[in-house]
Amino acid sequence: MLKILTIIGARPQIIKAAALSRAIRKSFGDQIQELLLHTGQHYDQNMSEVFFEQLKIPRPDYNLNVGSGSHGKQTATMISGIEEILLKEKPDYLVVYGDTNSTLAGAIAASKIHVPIAHIEAGLRSFNKSMPEEINRIMCDHASTLLFSPTLTGIKNLEHEGFNLANTKPFTNDKPGVFHCGDVMFDNSLHFASLADQQSSILAENGLENNPFILSTIHRDNNTDQPERLSSIFEAICAVVAQHNLSVVLPLHPRTAKLLQKNLPNALYQQVIKNKKIILLPPVSFLDMIALEKNAKMVMTDSGGVQKEAYYFMKPCIIMRPETEWVEIVEQGAGKLVDADMQRITEAVSYYLNDAAPTFPQIFGDGKAAEFICSTLLENKQF
Ligand code: UD1
Ligand code: UDP
Repeated sequence: MLKILTIIGARPQIIKAAALSRAIRKSFGDQIQELLLHTGQHYDQNMSEVFFEQLKIPRPDYNLNVGSGSHGKQTATMISGIEEILLKEKPDYLVVYGDTNSTLAGAIAASKIHVPIAHIEAGLRSFNKSMPEEINRIMCDHASTLLFSPTLTGIKNLEHEGFNLANTKPFTNDKPGVFHCGDVMFDNSLHFASLADQQSSILAENGLENNPFILSTIHRDNNTDQPERLSSIFEAICAVVAQHNLSVVLPLHPRTAKLLQKNLPNALYQQVIKNKKIILLPPVSFLDMIALEKNAKMVMTDSGGVQKEAYYFMKPCIIMRPETEWVEIVEQGAGKLVDADMQRITEAVSYYLNDAAPTFPQIFGDGKAAEFICSTLLENKQF
């Protein structure tokens, strides 16, 4: 039996973990034992708990309950808690997802006590080290033994950083194995799409069944914490609903909800909260999110995961960041990078409403990334 300890903490990691847990349950239950460690980085009911039941993710075996804090304090508390559990459980692999502080903490704790790391979503780069996530990704990749990249761009990035794609077994963190496997989030989008049609009532609840809308999410610290950038985004949203016959639906990350009033000028804040075509919601469940993505005209976001899901559901995506790790979406013409620039945001909305008809070829795998990862973990059990 291969024993893995999977770290989850932030919302997208909980969602991603559903794909691997499902594959283990379905096809590898007699060969892989998975323990789940929730760091507690996200803890609100609608940022954590809601996903476990809906996506049938097993209850975490451990929860460190670290909560929010500065990068250093939050990461340090996680490292110490994860180390303790690794020493007790002695897993064959530590599995980490993505690029959050929970990912970094897992990578530091495991590498120091020689537990091999499998990094899912390896190789992605924004080439912008002012993002905390960019530091987390680079450090985690360079501590890992098995690197699973969802895209060919990720593989190329790793090669440029000195990873040898020709390495052979047995892999170690000095001689890691790099694998192109597709995206576990695509696995999830395929799996949950029809369930969302059956179970979500978010469209009816918000009068959206026959009314066109854009779905938007905003949570990057450089957008939420800088008043000029947040204002520019919300000025653009006000302009879009004034110019076009549609609404903008915004499930707000708690970081954004907390800063909206503080970081928008009062007149703009009042305009936003009083406008009936700007629908502010608390964070929604995953099935509700899929229902919104499937039925939106387009998506405007600074989220990594939401960019990809827009693509999976064949919606153009306006990316409110200076750059993206998911460059294929932009190269394909299915997304536009507009930063937090009011003019570029409104122009991109008009472009996708009137002029563009992008195509969405399948470039994020075959929907079986989780199965591939499980098989590769099993093939690389270290004794
Ligand atoms: C984190 C990740 C980011 C990821 C995002 C997914 C890091 C450095 N960043 O950013 O890569 O895209 O998660 O959503 O790890 N808060 C609550 N309730 C919660 C969680 C957070 O109120 O359940 C509030 C707190 O005020 C907290 C703030 O949101 O200080 C930010 O949370 P944090 O986990 O530090 O970063 P995210 O912006 O969520
Ligand atoms: N998501 C959700 N409810 C919401 C907003 C997002 O279920 O209100 C899901 C979304 O569908 C995707 C994931 O959360 O699967 C993306 O997470 P987030 O945007 O928080 O982080 P990122 O992907 O940028 O790291």
